[in-house]
Amino acid sequence: MKKKFLATAALAALAFSLTACGGTNTPPPADDSSSDASPTAAGAASGYSLVPKDTNGDGFITLGFAQVGAESGWRTANTQSYKDYFVEANGFKLVFLDANQDADKQKQDVRDLIAQGVEVIDLAPVTDSGWEPVLQEAKDAGIPLIVSDRQLSVSDDLYLTYFGGNMEEEGKTAVKWLQDYITANNVTDPINILHLQGTIGSTAQKGRTKALDDAAPANDWNIVFQQTGEFTQAKGQEVTESFLQQGKDFNVIYSENDDMTYGAIDALRAAGKDPKEYIIISFDGNKSAVQMVVDGLIDVIAECDPLLGPQVGDLIKKAEAGEQIAKITYSNESYIDSTNAAEKVKTAFGS
Ligand code: AHR
Repeated sequence: MKKKFLATAALAALAFSLTACGGTNTPPPADDSSSDASPTAAGAASGYSLVPKDTNGDGFITLGFAQVGAESGWRTANTQSYKDYFVEANGFKLVFLDANQDADKQKQDVRDLIAQGVEVIDLAPVTDSGWEPVLQEAKDAGIPLIVSDRQLSVSDDLYLTYFGGNMEEEGKTAVKWLQDYITANNVTDPINILHLQGTIGSTAQKGRTKALDDAAPANDWNIVFQQTGEFTQAKGQEVTESFLQQGKDFNVIYSENDDMTYGAIDALRAAGKDPKEYIIISFDGNKSAVQMVVDGLIDVIAECDPLLGPQVGDLIKKAEAGEQIAKITYSNESYIDSTNAAEKVKTAFGS
């Protein structure tokens, strides 16, 4: 299908360059996706008054980081940003625990961090539910807790602040790109979407899936297949292969991260299909994926910033100094397509 669109690709490029400025695309949704500029303090106003402190007086703040796992290039970059930043030279020590994408193990990991007496906990949750008892235990132990990367379905008074992506806005950015592409290219073919979902129950999956689920009926798009690829390349390939074996028609891939996109492209090639015949929508912005946009393999990537370590460190220092910090701060994110990929690839994270 994509080949058919190439004759009018210049028109699409023009349409999207109208929203581009200096190689950086402005996210198309109208909602403010940058940060919660509300003056509401993370602390007292939300019933949470714990702030990070050097309670043992060793001259450092010990951060216990409960990480999701090592499932993706995004995750590798995210972990590295913590390991690079939370070092003694910056006034921190780091205790790092990897949940291996297991939500139950991660709850135990947080309990282990509480038992070790770390001075602040950063939780990047595998999934968003069932956290109240564990967070209450951290609060009762007097250990401030920050949520990063993915959000939680818990009351505001159980954590200090959230810092990370606005996953539903990322999905809306991707969906808006597709709507604009279809309009700019006068596409009249039915839109049949293969949807690779992330880890079910994570807000990264819920937000990105919701954006597509909301947009599909409104735009008369068909989601012909929707299954989790658990944010991994291997599973993304496996799920795409199983769908290809059914022999059903599709012309768009909406893949909730770059790793599953790599897997889907591998599956297409293994089935003798040309990935350039499909509209491929991805999330994250790893360097290899951005290079694939340059090469015309991926059409758009909704960005998700993994380099959270220094930004979380900055929030901790501000809170420690008594500054008010927002309850929610969303990362600055946009999208990457043919209009800005050549520029973006120079500074993209990872390999
Ligand atoms: O929560 C962020 C998501 O988790 C990234 O999009 C994905 O690559 C990772 O595994």
